[in-house]
Amino acid sequence: ETTISLKEKAEFNVGAAVKSSLLKTDAQYADAFKANFNQLTAEFEMKMDQLWLSENNYNWEAADYLVNFAEDNNMEVHGHALVWYRAFPDWFKNQSNDSIAFESKVKTYISDVVGRYKGKIKSWDVVNEVFADNGGARNEDIIAPLFNDPTAFYGRCFQYAKDADPDTKLFYNDYSVVIDEGKRESIKNMASRFKTEGFPIDGIGAQFHYGTDTGLTKINDGFTDLASTDLLIHISELDIKINVNKSNDFSLYSGNAQQQSVIYEAIVAMYETLPESQKFGISTWGVSDNYSWLKTEWHPKEFPLLFDADLNKKLAYQGFLNGLN
Ligand code: G3I
Repeated sequence: ETTISLKEKAEFNVGAAVKSSLLKTDAQYADAFKANFNQLTAEFEMKMDQLWLSENNYNWEAADYLVNFAEDNNMEVHGHALVWYRAFPDWFKNQSNDSIAFESKVKTYISDVVGRYKGKIKSWDVVNEVFADNGGARNEDIIAPLFNDPTAFYGRCFQYAKDADPDTKLFYNDYSVVIDEGKRESIKNMASRFKTEGFPIDGIGAQFHYGTDTGLTKINDGFTDLASTDLLIHISELDIKINVNKSNDFSLYSGNAQQQSVIYEAIVAMYETLPESQKFGISTWGVSDNYSWLKTEWHPKEFPLLFDADLNKKLAYQGFLNGLN
């Protein structure tokens, strides 16, 4: 049985995505989170559709609760996420059919949100998931059609965040970054363009929503390529599916819990090979299997995280711990 916890052994942030409702109602969940992690990401309560009820009208309650919880428990807060097409509220989308109005509202939003938590939220996902897997613009996106140069708009969003809190670290966050070369190329091109044009980007968030069927060689190669940007690298939403074929008669220990542990260990060990200057941290997308988004979005019998439904440490926890230097 392990004695040292992840946060005690790691020399970088070990975070998890949490929900205020669970911290308030599930003491075991809250205790496991406090005992093992030192960084908090809001799973959804710091997104535009949760904060921004109408122009000049914000709902700060849940975000304030999470920031206070983190402060009370000596945790850092990673802000997620300022600009994301899936979190634009309907009232905002309906009002912004020209780029000037759209950008003016986004600038106000970023200034209000980052400004409120100045000095409290040490890092932000400024822009989330703007590229399709092949690296092109997303077709669901409303930004690309509005702007003839969307990348410049994204760069200005980073500047708005920097202006609101010069000390916060600013990230671009996306999924399939290390396994989709087209997407990774677009991200690298955007990051180098930001540097050339003076837009303030500090890091890349690679979400790492993978499975026991994702090839480790592919992950390693993509990760090495991503690290060549010399930016901070945040493994921002780590979870490892084991019910990869979505079978209905599947249980955690009949499945490949051991293989899951091997994958967690390999990913953490790979992260440890980064230069110190590029280490920011690893965050899992949730604390315990029972509350994972994948139970609704993938399969009810999915067990992707480090703790089981009873908040026992799984083999995956030991794997993560073994991967740490
Ligand atoms: O808690 C409320 C509930 O009170 C309300 O009755 C219900 C119906 O409106 O909504 C509930 O909130 C839901 C929330 O999850 C909590 O379950 C939101 O509708 C729902 O949109 C939200 O989904 C989140 C999703 O992002 C969209 O924000 C997921 O929890 C979250 O896991 C998912 O996370 C994303 C990352 O932000 C970006 N990367 C991909 C990742 C997975 O999609």
